[in-house]
Amino acid sequence: MTHAPILAPSLLAGDHANLSSSVATVADLGLSWLHIDIMDGHFVPNLTFGPETLAALRRRGSKLFFDTHLMLSEPHRYVEAFARAGADLISVHIEPTYDQVGTLARIRSLGSQAGIVLNPDTPASAVESLLASVDLVLVMTVQPGFGGQPFRSDMLPKLAQLAAWRKERNLTFRLEVDGGVDLSTAHECRAAGADTFVAGTSFFKAADQPAFAAAFAQL
Ligand code: DX5
Ligand code: ZN
Repeated sequence: MTHAPILAPSLLAGDHANLSSSVATVADLGLSWLHIDIMDGHFVPNLTFGPETLAALRRRGSKLFFDTHLMLSEPHRYVEAFARAGADLISVHIEPTYDQVGTLARIRSLGSQAGIVLNPDTPASAVESLLASVDLVLVMTVQPGFGGQPFRSDMLPKLAQLAAWRKERNLTFRLEVDGGVDLSTAHECRAAGADTFVAGTSFFKAADQPAFAAAFAQL
């Protein structure tokens, strides 16, 4: 099946001194998703937001779909806090050592959707056995940790492999890309089977954000 394209602006590239204004920019364009990067300074060499950030945005009235990307060495310790804080989707990386299967099931039992994430060096085969247990697979198209890095086109075959398995097995998970995504690289990802596009720098720095969002809707 082919999902309609979704643009998920990444709050990482927003104004960290005024997150509400960045969230309003997304909502005012009529977009529905917001990508929120959670970093622990351990799994990745950077720090960002915590559960209280999501909770505060909810208290300010945000109805956006919170696409929450956990870049944590011990994600299982935090899924409950993020679910309670208002995360609609919680994605965890496959690379750290923890109970991935149990954690994905726990996310769903908490009422959130569950996603699994692969770093650039991680092959598609690492998540093959989990594909029936997730709502989304996120293929990192940069090494996670920072915005503004160049897109890695060598990730396109991985996307195509995941899309092929999805089709063969009649699965319905969304296929998301994150890192260096702009309109041009998004087209390449769409051709390879992606349907969900995280855009940080390209979204927040776009000269004409309505036109940028409209172009993604046509992918
Ligand atoms: C990187 C994060 C991304 C980041 C993407 O570790 O996971 O979500 O915001 O930023 P851009 O779109 O600027 O590459
Ligand atoms: Zn991300």
